[in-house]
Order: sequence, then C-alpha cells, then structure tokens
Amino acid sequence: MDQNIFLIGPMGSGKTSLGRRVAPRLGLDFIDLDEELERRCGVEVAVIFEIEGEAGFRERERELLAEIALRSGQLVATGGGSVLDSRNREVLCRNGLVVWLRASVAQQLRRLERDRRRPLLAAPDRRERLTRMAEQRNPLYAEAAHLVFESRNRPMPAMAEALHESIHKHLHAGSNADDESAQR
Ligand code: S3P
Repeated sequence: MDQNIFLIGPMGSGKTSLGRRVAPRLGLDFIDLDEELERRCGVEVAVIFEIEGEAGFRERERELLAEIALRSGQLVATGGGSVLDSRNREVLCRNGLVVWLRASVAQQLRRLERDRRRPLLAAPDRRERLTRMAEQRNPLYAEAAHLVFESRNRPMPAMAEALHESIHKHLHAGSNADDESAQR
C-alpha cells in the first residue's frame, strides 16, 4: 500500500496508540508528528510552546506536515490542532486518507487524567478547555475527514481491530458504511 493515512482528532482520541497498532497491519510506516518534531528539535512540545509560543509551534507543525506528506506509505498521527490551519487541511486531504478519531470530552478527560505534558491542558478547568476546543475544531475535523471513526471506551486492542477493519473496508469497498464509521 503506497497511500498515506492521516489520523486526526482531539487530544486523547487515541491517534498515537491506535496508529502505532494499526500501521503495521496495513503495511505502513508509523509516524507521530509531535514525536518527530520533538526528535528534530531535541526538546518536548511543551518546551517549544514555552519558548516560541503556540504560534511558533504551529509554524513548525505546518512545515513538518508539509514535508512528511510528500512521502507515501505512512500512517501519520497528527497533533490535535493541526487542522486549525487551512493549509494543513488541504495538505492532509490531498495526500492521503484522512480519518477522524472522534471522542467525547468525557472520554478525553478520562484518558488524559494523568497527563501533565500537554501545554493546552494546563488549564484550571480542563472540561471547559476541551469543550471550547471541540466547539472550534469539530467542524474542521469534519471538513477534512474522509472517514469518521468513533473512538469509544473499550480496550485498545479491540479498538485497533475495529479501526483497522474500518479503514480496510473504506479502502477496498469504497462506500461500505457500518456502525463504526460514517463516510462521506
Ligand atoms: C495539541 C495537541 C497535541 C500537541 C500539542 C497541541 C492541540 O497533540 O500537538 O500539545 O492543539 O490539540 P495530541 O493531539 O497528540 O495530544
């Protein structure tokens, strides 16, 4: 398979954990955009935010995505905010199958409970922060996505199996919709 797959969706929707599991099953290389950025910069995302602000981080994120999208045969876990920039949405749509891992704020809160690394989660009221982000971003995820996958609360292996199946069906049957996915 030489096509790319891009996982989009909010923090805690499982882009990295699911992507890592599903990529080898599809014969794709796995790339996590934030990890790649951290590897190149030699510091954590939180430090980039601290030194360069969110604007600096977004610029680096955009440049890296544009570079990576030129290659093929990859499953890429993007950062939750990558869809904010319309140029990124265009790059994603043009260069692969875009899959939105949709998660509720309640699910995000549960999954991110112990997270202290994500700068945008450093808010007094996480629920409110995540709700606002969802309101702003959900229309953008919807705009960019070719396929929507409901990231439910169930064991990771079962969810990876379902995601794999959903992508496989989309790629091979074209218009097969089931209870896991909605297509457009
Ligand atoms: C962000 C999500 C993070 C990371 C950065 C900003 C966001 O990635 O890119 O902290 O704006 O939602 P994950 O979605 O992998 O947590």
